[in-house]
Amino acid sequence: MHSRRILAIIVALGCAAAVSNQGLLSAAGISAARDNFDGQCAKCHGESGQGDGPAGMSLSIRPRNFTDCSRMSKDSNERIFNIIKGAANRRA
Ligand code: HEC
Repeated sequence: MHSRRILAIIVALGCAAAVSNQGLLSAAGISAARDNFDGQCAKCHGESGQGDGPAGMSLSIRPRNFTDCSRMSKDSNERIFNIIKGAANRRA
């Protein structure tokens, strides 16, 4: 599982000014992060992370828009990391 890399691309797509990205966005990791996101997440969260992927349109709970700074800045990197790993309660 490439949870750190996926977290890096969420930070890159989203609210980099509000969400701390220290140590996450190395040049070496960013294209691998993009591949992970495109393959596993974009179908729901959209290629640009706006929550508008085709597979998310029919869900009753819409996928998170990672570019919504006011919402994303409420989640710590640790929380997002744990969500990606499946270790956090999404609705908490
Ligand atoms: C099947 C569609 C789907 C896929 C694929 C998907 N997500 Fe989501 N994601 C959702 C939905 C729907 C929500 C909103 C859940 C909620 O509000 O409880 C969400 C919420 C999130 C959240 C915010 C959760 C919170 O409560 O703060 C993060 C972070 C996230 N997704 C990351 C990812 C990542 C990273 C991937 C790829 C590894 C991914 N998602 C793949 C549908 C999806």
